[in-house]
Amino acid sequence: MNTKATAIAPSNIAFIKYWGKKEESLRLAKNGSISMNLSNLTATTTIEFDSKYESDNILFNGIHDVNVSNRVSQHLDKIRKFAKINKKAKVIIENNFPVATGLSASASVFASLTVAGCASVALKLSEKDISILARQGSGSACRSIPSGFVEWRSGKTSETSYAYSLYPPDYWEVYDVVVIVSKAKKEIGSTEGQSIAKTSPFFQTRLKDMDGKIKLCKEILKRKNFTQLGELVESEALEMHAIMLTSTPSLIYWTSGTLEIMKLTKIWRKEGLEVYFTINTGQDVHLIVQSKDVSRLKTKLEQIESVRDIIINTPCGGAHLIDKHLF
Ligand code: PMV
Repeated sequence: MNTKATAIAPSNIAFIKYWGKKEESLRLAKNGSISMNLSNLTATTTIEFDSKYESDNILFNGIHDVNVSNRVSQHLDKIRKFAKINKKAKVIIENNFPVATGLSASASVFASLTVAGCASVALKLSEKDISILARQGSGSACRSIPSGFVEWRSGKTSETSYAYSLYPPDYWEVYDVVVIVSKAKKEIGSTEGQSIAKTSPFFQTRLKDMDGKIKLCKEILKRKNFTQLGELVESEALEMHAIMLTSTPSLIYWTSGTLEIMKLTKIWRKEGLEVYFTINTGQDVHLIVQSKDVSRLKTKLEQIESVRDIIINTPCGGAHLIDKHLF
């Protein structure tokens, strides 16, 4: 039986990043990655498959966007195939944060869509299989399915490329303070960016040490060494952006506001405020900090003119169903 279902899913911040695919359509990553779910960056999706709908009707943050609708419909086709149904669906997706600015909205969108979609057609999949399905909508979405601190094993095949929880959210109180420097939407999305990663002359060099980086990150998480985590996360972000900057065509996601925050982070560290930056595909910045320093950091950020908004995140659970439908 098909019913209406709603799910909420967090975005996640990758400590070790996924950048570059070994298989495009299945979204198989070249390397594994490690992330933390973000409590205050979420997507909520309500979906209903019904024969009364003649075509998929997808409302994304209040807009009928052709590109988003096509990508969501392709994902629904996978769910339809699994559930052996042909019915079209009505879908409403709402994010509680700006999209296309580097905050990994697609991770939250495809994780919530997958969980709600499967529930609405009574498809009972394991967490691993839901992660595999979510990955095919957006790679990083597979990491928003499990709880807390998460590893995505790149795997060799679709069945072996999934995410699982390393530690629950309450394992370690690491904060991610998101700094919105602009709400302008990026011109090149991560799907396109990922496809040109291999054109960077430094891409093969990066890949040589990814297994070592994953191992190191897991050791640091085990020891809960914040300084080592921060140093690793910041250098990893810069390495990924070095690939982006040297791809053909080059990808420059930073704006002057991004650079200002990056430079201030280093100054604040020298002054004794232990904070580290990481950046994805967009201008907005994630600042990694311990709970004891959050309010000091917030006060500093509030004094900067280029800071439009601040969103404070702690580690949180993964995608799950909720009762409150959007229609
Ligand atoms: O899942 P995608 O295609 O949106 O790619 C995510 C890319 C990064 O956010 C830059 C890195 C990551 O691992 O989240």
